[in-house]
Amino acid sequence: MQPLSPRVVELLNSALTFELTATNTYFLHARMLQNWGFSRLGKVFYDLSIDEMKDADALIQRLLMFDGHPNVQKLNPITVGESADEILRLALDSEKAAVAQFNASAQECHDLGDHGTASVFEAMVREEEEHADWFESQLDAIERVGLQQYLARQLEPGDAPG
Ligand SMILES: [Fe+2]
Ligand SMILES: [Fe+2]
Repeated sequence: MQPLSPRVVELLNSALTFELTATNTYFLHARMLQNWGFSRLGKVFYDLSIDEMKDADALIQRLLMFDGHPNVQKLNPITVGESADEILRLALDSEKAAVAQFNASAQECHDLGDHGTASVFEAMVREEEEHADWFESQLDAIERVGLQQYLARQLEPGDAPG
């Protein structure tokens, strides 16, 4: 296959950095939430960390298919939340940032005539929009029912440890 333009390789690698950062952040936050007793919310973050890892995997595969070099050394700075609601707000910000970055990358790929890679970014935009929407709903629910009530629903009493 014809190699990707160097700029497209750069865009894919910066998306990869984003996805690896999200994977690690969600994984850490999942375990923190579970440690605080919020097993239900923690499970969502755990599942999301796996989703983001699959995004990273798809980017690595696309780079390799075109003989590009996936850079797995790099992470963006990770902001660790200090409470469940801060963790939700950080996640919403990160999903919105992902949507903005991947939209811009899709546009740039179209401009460069690489519609295949553009469509990869477009599919990722749709997925991150769904994630952002879910976090937004949680923050809305907190507004409506109050933080304590919301968090009480995230406990799963009787959960076996481990
Ligand atoms: Fe993702
Ligand atoms: Fe996401």
